[in-house]
Amino acid sequence: MQETSQSGKTWSGRFNEPVTELVKRYTASVTFDKRLAEYDIQGSLAHAAMLNAAGILSAADLAAIRDGMAKILDDIRAGRFAWSVDLEDVHMNIERRLTDLIGDAGKRLHTGRSRNDQVATDVRLWLRAEVDNLLHLIGEFQISLLDLAEANADTVMPGFTHLQVAQPVTFGHHLLAYYEMTSRDAARLADCRKRINRLPLGAAALAGTSFPIDREFVALQLGFDGVCENSLDAVSDRDFAIEFTAAAALVMTHLSRLSEELILWMSPRVGFIDIADRFCTGSSIMPQKKNPDVPELVRGKTGRVTGHLMGLLTLMKAQPLAYNKDNQEDKEPLFDTVDTLRDTLTIYADMMRGITVKKEAMRNAALQGFATATDLADYLVKKGLPFRDAHEAVALAVRHADGKGCDLADLPLAELRQFSDLIGDDIFQVLTLEGSLASRNHVGGTAPEQVRAAIARARARLSA
Ligand code: ARG
Repeated sequence: MQETSQSGKTWSGRFNEPVTELVKRYTASVTFDKRLAEYDIQGSLAHAAMLNAAGILSAADLAAIRDGMAKILDDIRAGRFAWSVDLEDVHMNIERRLTDLIGDAGKRLHTGRSRNDQVATDVRLWLRAEVDNLLHLIGEFQISLLDLAEANADTVMPGFTHLQVAQPVTFGHHLLAYYEMTSRDAARLADCRKRINRLPLGAAALAGTSFPIDREFVALQLGFDGVCENSLDAVSDRDFAIEFTAAAALVMTHLSRLSEELILWMSPRVGFIDIADRFCTGSSIMPQKKNPDVPELVRGKTGRVTGHLMGLLTLMKAQPLAYNKDNQEDKEPLFDTVDTLRDTLTIYADMMRGITVKKEAMRNAALQGFATATDLADYLVKKGLPFRDAHEAVALAVRHADGKGCDLADLPLAELRQFSDLIGDDIFQVLTLEGSLASRNHVGGTAPEQVRAAIARARARLSA
């Protein structure tokens, strides 16, 4: 048999010539999948323990594997491990080092296993841990969101539809909308975790293995809820990763909407808030500028995560069963999604604490644009006018006030009564911002009392 530079490779015997340097680089994944190393070792240790319990691996070999892996783990953690592109990926790098350290026992580790079920297991173990961390970070973000909402449970601001002044709301109520969105995001991630948490090992290359393995044993050791029940599916599908990325894209989308609002609110044209300097930068040319860079980047990075979702869906769509090398391309988008989401949530929790609310500006804005016009219509309905007629009467009153350049509440009673003689002097309480807010006093409404109750429920849920 010909000796080539492939002789260092695991499958060297089959090949007549080495791959070119470019192909080697093109096909290798170790530069990025070394990130899975700790999970790869965890999986290998559980597999080895199972092989031993099943009588496939001797106790001496198992002990040697454990010793060798402990040393390798130390080296990796200390940054001493010599990763080699020649060994293609994280799995082969670790296995080769193990064999260098302990000899034949290292070569026995791969019995009844393939890199196909190995990598699927590693990604699931890694992603499960990341999901747990992200859930924690969403909780942290929500706590700082709730703190800001509580401090502004009765801060009036104009609520908008079509970005036109619609009705008064409290700033606290507005923020609580993002609590709801991110709560659903957390529920989606938690639900997706259930499908991540299944063990592929035992599927081997694609068909299972002729060794008398015990998959439940490995699942238990690794904290999986159960095993993937079809070997072909176990090694080939990455739907759990796609689902995770979809959930991540939704978190980013929600934070992107909030970012858009922060940017708008911080614009001097609006002037509702200020964002702490540590999240902003200046301009290299315009000395007066303070730009909301962080929210802008969150909005920008949302495109990147949404792109990863499209990338993963496209990666999967034409793959025949079972494993194909295409799947190696799942890692970088997945890693980047997790990194982007983790950093975004971490920064955001702190940014919420760095927001100064300009209550006067919010209030003044709510006083413009006839925000309480609906309240006047509702008042007339309560006095017996059909809603459509009330709507028309108020529209005429608004036109009149607009012509005079004043608010509805600034019109004298006699003038208001030109539009409906059902209007009495109890109307002025109804037309105030506070009266309008307080009247929306039901679950989900903007009344300060309801906002405080919603915050209390949210806090109870977060600490449960
Ligand atoms: N690096 C590969 C991946 O990430 C590991 C599995 C390779 N299996 C194979 N038969 N080439 O998917």
